[in-house]
Amino acid sequence: MSIIDHNLIPQDLDSFWMPFTSNRSFKENPRFIVSARGMYYTDSNGHEVLDGSAGLWCVNAGHYREEINRAIAEQLETLDFAHSFSAGHPHAFNYASRLVKHFPESMNHVFFTNSGSESVDTALKIALAYHKVCGEGSRQRLIGREKAYHGMGFGGVSVGGLVKNRSPFGVLLPGTDHIKHTHDIERNAFSRGLPKEGAEFADDLQRLVDLHGADTIAAVIVEPVGGAGGVHLPPEGYLQRLRDICTTHGILLIFDEVITGFGRIGASCAATRFGVEPDLITTAKGITNATVPMGAVFVSDTVYDAFMSIDESGVELAHGYTYSGHPLACAAGMATLDIYEREDLFARAAMLNDHWMDSALELRDLAKVIDIRCFALMAAIEMEPRPGEAMQRGVEAGKICYENGVWVRNIGDALVLSPPLIITEEEISRTFEVIAKSIEQTA
Ligand SMILES: Cc1ncc(COP(=O)(O)O)c(C=O)c1O
Repeated sequence: MSIIDHNLIPQDLDSFWMPFTSNRSFKENPRFIVSARGMYYTDSNGHEVLDGSAGLWCVNAGHYREEINRAIAEQLETLDFAHSFSAGHPHAFNYASRLVKHFPESMNHVFFTNSGSESVDTALKIALAYHKVCGEGSRQRLIGREKAYHGMGFGGVSVGGLVKNRSPFGVLLPGTDHIKHTHDIERNAFSRGLPKEGAEFADDLQRLVDLHGADTIAAVIVEPVGGAGGVHLPPEGYLQRLRDICTTHGILLIFDEVITGFGRIGASCAATRFGVEPDLITTAKGITNATVPMGAVFVSDTVYDAFMSIDESGVELAHGYTYSGHPLACAAGMATLDIYEREDLFARAAMLNDHWMDSALELRDLAKVIDIRCFALMAAIEMEPRPGEAMQRGVEAGKICYENGVWVRNIGDALVLSPPLIITEEEISRTFEVIAKSIEQTA
């Protein structure tokens, strides 16, 4: 039986307001994905493309994992939904207990959400409330970083550092500030793995401490590896330096691991891979292999215990979502974790690291390429913008790659890769060959 059903092509394109999309140009020239298996998508023309982005950094175990599908279907047969507001179903507890075993030792508590944006807002709110319960309510500032992406909730946009995502939405949250980004193409172009130069960018946090006073700062949030801003790897020593400054000044450190969580960089999370423990970790995406929306904030014992020792009885944190710990998401998450454990997928990106970096860096001699940033199973191939036409080469290269059988996204003039962790060495080689050919084909 053909898996392509041409009746799936919609007649009305107007009703769906597509997210983060030029609706007008998509709808003039639409393209529909109709099925997915393993490393590959198939579109409505029957064209098969390798999924170079794992969906949107989320289908880490590859598409169509039967055991996840089955777990969701079976869960529906017994308990479709129960909330967790002063109530409990076993799956949320069982799943949280399993999850924390994979995360840093000091982080033994999980607050469930439904997305990365909600995880970020949750972590920021926990940070503010934590200082309040500790008697330091003056700590209200939230610090982000330039070029960062933390989702599209008001909290995440406020600490985010991408101007196009901020400027349409007014003044955003008061009391936020940003440290400098770490992108330094002059010193670090074509780094193999983590850039050598730039640990001192972390000292910009000290500048904000000196400017605002540590007693006004609640938390700093960073992506340990920036993803949606175009793959920005932390310079060697940078994350530890941030940790040290936070510790010295009683500031909570939040790692936004919505992308790096669940195996993307060769461990369960970047905190583990880099040996730097934050106070809170935000996750989503790979947690359920993207089958059912879910997010989770991992919370350190110190932070959690502060809430649990509040004097008054009653709700310790007035925060949560109707679907926090949704039974279907828990079932999907547990089946996903089974696969990650059985196939040792958290270690796989580390195992493939050398081949990945070698293959990516083979593109360094292409005339249009000005930087390559690569580590574990993340990469950005940055091309020289065409004069007066920023982003256009990126858009064009992305389209040509798709026609040539590899679907990668462009972020500006960079092609960004984050394939499912099940990718083989042969598929890695082929992916970069296709990208090289496609870049050559651009004007
Ligand atoms: C680092 C980071 N934080 C938060 C988010 C937002 O996640 P979501 O789109 O699930 O809300 C993303 C999404 O790409 C992300 O990369």
